[in-house]
Order: sequence, then C-alpha cells, then structure tokens
Amino acid sequence: MNEKLNPFLEHPNGTSLKDPSFVLFKDAKVLVTGHTGFKGSWLIAVLNRLGAQVTGYALEPQTSPSLYNVIQGDQLCHSIIGDIRDAQKVHQTILDVQPDFVFHLAAQPIVRTSYQIPAETFEVNGMGTVHVLDGIRMLKKDCVGVMITTDKVYENNEKGKAYKESDRLGGHDPYSSSKAVAEIIIESYRKSFFGVSKFPEFHKPIASARAGNVIGGGDWAADRLIPDIVRSLSENKPIQIRNPLSVRPWQHVLEPLSGYLTLASKMVRNPILYADSFNFGPKAHDVLTVQQMTEMAIEIWGKGTFLFPDMDNQPHEAGLLSLSIKKAETILNWKPLWNAHQALFSTLEWYKSFYNGDPIIPIMNQQIDPFFFN
Ligand SMILES: NC(=O)c1ccc[n+]([C@@H]2O[C@H](COP(=O)([O-])OP(=O)(O)OC[C@H]3O[C@@H](n4cnc5c(N)ncnc54)[C@H](O)[C@@H]3O)[C@@H](O)[C@H]2O)c1
Repeated sequence: MNEKLNPFLEHPNGTSLKDPSFVLFKDAKVLVTGHTGFKGSWLIAVLNRLGAQVTGYALEPQTSPSLYNVIQGDQLCHSIIGDIRDAQKVHQTILDVQPDFVFHLAAQPIVRTSYQIPAETFEVNGMGTVHVLDGIRMLKKDCVGVMITTDKVYENNEKGKAYKESDRLGGHDPYSSSKAVAEIIIESYRKSFFGVSKFPEFHKPIASARAGNVIGGGDWAADRLIPDIVRSLSENKPIQIRNPLSVRPWQHVLEPLSGYLTLASKMVRNPILYADSFNFGPKAHDVLTVQQMTEMAIEIWGKGTFLFPDMDNQPHEAGLLSLSIKKAETILNWKPLWNAHQALFSTLEWYKSFYNGDPIIPIMNQQIDPFFFN
C-alpha cells in the first residue's frame, strides 16, 4: 500500500455537510478510545474528513492485518497507547487533551472471548467506562460524551421482540452483561455528576449508544461472521457457519458512526434532551439470519460454499436479536442509509480491493461521503 498522501484531510470539493451540525467537529478536539480497533479506525477516518483534531487512546492494534495500520492511523490522530483499566493514565489523557467530545469505544467486544476471560471483560468494559467518565468529571470545561455499548445489553427472551431503550437490561454471556453494567454505570454518572443541576457550571451531556452487529471493510477479528466469511472466500475454502439460524440486526459500520456523531452534535445544542440512551440499527427487514448473510455474501463475491461445523459444545450466544430504532428516528432524525445488501456489497468491495492490492483510502472516502456530505 503506497499511499503517501493523507486524502482524509482533503474535503470533497463543492459538497455540503449532510447535517449542518456536523460543522461542530471542524477543529474540535475529539478523544476516541478504542481508535486502533475496527470501529475506532473508521471513526478517526470520518472525523478527519470532518476536520476534527483527533486523539486516540487504546492498546496496539490486535489483529494482523489491522484496519488502523492499513489506513496509517498514526497520521490521522495523536495516538496514545494505554490500558483503559489504568485510571491515572486515562484521567491524565483526558486532562491533557481537554476534549470537546469523547467517544468511548475501547472494550473487550467478543462474546466467545468473554467466556474465556470474564473478569477481564468486566474490568475493561465496566471499570474502563468508569475511568473515562471520571476523566470527563475532572474537566473544567464543557464536554460531550458518547459511550458505546451494544444491542446485546437487553435481557433477551428470544421472543422476537424489537428491544427499545426503556426495556430491561440483562445479558446472558459475560460480554453482554458487562455492557449492561456499563449502561448502569453511565446512567448513575449522568444522574450523580452530569445532571441538569450541574449545567450552570459546565455542560457535560453523556449519552449511550447501542448498535447492532456492524459490518464493513477492515474487520479481522476472530469469531465474527464477516471476517470469517472473507478469510474463507479469499482462501477458496468453505465458510464454516456456527449459528446459521441466529438472527441479527446487520448494518454497515458507517450507520452507527453517523448516529454517534448526530447524537454528539445534538447534545451540544440541547444537552438535556439528548443526553440519553439510543439504539442504532437497521430497518426491520434487514434483520437477517447468519445463513442468509452468508448466502448473500457468496452471491456478491461470485463464488464460495459453506458448511456447518460440529454444533455441540458451543457456548451460548443469543439466537434472536432485533432493535427498535424508533427513538433515534423520531428524536434524532437519524435513519439508516443502506440496506443489508448495500452494506454487504460495500464491505466485500472493500475486502476485494484490499486483497487485490488496490488503494484503499479512495474506496473508504467513497463509502464515507454519502453518510456525511450531500
Ligand atoms: N463490531 C460490532 O459488531 C459491535 C457491535 C456492537 C457494539 N460494538 C462495540 O463497539 C466498540 C468497538 O468495537 P470494535 O468492533 O471496533 O472492536 P475491536 O476489537 O476492533 O476494537 C476494540 C478497541 O478497544 C481497545 N481495547 C481493548 N481492550 C482495551 C484495554 N484494556 N485498554 C485500552 N483499549 C482496549 C482495542 O485496542 C481496540 O482499539 C466496542 O465497545 C464494542 O463493544 C461493536
């Protein structure tokens, strides 16, 4: 990849922002935790395109290849490598950066890993959130925080109900419940430290964002459907699908990212109304099974086969999960842009280009722009 230029810093000529309030990110100081991960790398790319000054805080990229390295993430942000469990370092980073916005994505995000390291999952996802919120608490200035949790925070009875934000929190596996814990922490901090009565001093609206299963180019995590599919397709091997009938709200990574940025910019305008929890997911008809997504991927890729491995002794993962996005649609005026087919098409276009050795940044710019520019 010989892409010396950093085209994310160039604004598309003759275009206007899709949401005028995205102008708030121009020259804003933005801290992204988890910037070396899949969603974090897309977020720093988007923020650069919007003209923000980005600092990242996370561990070193954990996959090889990694999206962060592919896009030369060190050129897109001031990168600080640190553990989110290191309270002092997290606080000091926030005090040094003096951010206008914080997007907290750093997490142990894999359900199956959470069965192997439950305590670490709770520490990273629970106490990590506490440390970020405490850092914001220490700031003597306005700051908007968007805390990223997941669609898995709801107590899931698998009866096909689309969960709404007021539904009961729960979580069977340690990952899901650690994120439900994070939600309770966020709510507690909002009530205890960031409530309306504190606003005369500083505005620190804090929201939580619960997104569904995201797909997009550059995810190489283990035990996720699209990375598994792409690894198999690119090596001409059959795709092994573990839970073919599991139903998930699939969406392109740029969908929730546009939701996080919409939410953050709205909180600047009205810190009381929008400092709340919001679901970000696809339209109901894009809630598909793992097998349907796999078949669609094979059709788009042009070839491929799949098989079902031994299903015994697999750890529990939710079979049916769907989200109501009515609140984001009505209150934030946010709605998904791409359906599942478009999301998968763009994702596979990204991977095909990567494996062909094509320049990846122009493709990412092309995919980013419809979400943020007219
Ligand atoms: N990918 C999805 O489908 C999905 C769906 C819903 C919610 N989420 C949430 O979005 C966020 C980002 O997920 P992702 O898919 O980009 O995951 P990822 O694994 O690609 O990235 C995780 C990031 O967190 C950082 N991190 C992990 N442990 C850390 C620690 N101890 N200290 C500091 N940083 C640490 C990693 O360095 C990396 O930057 C997570 O909070 C995840 O729970 C993801």
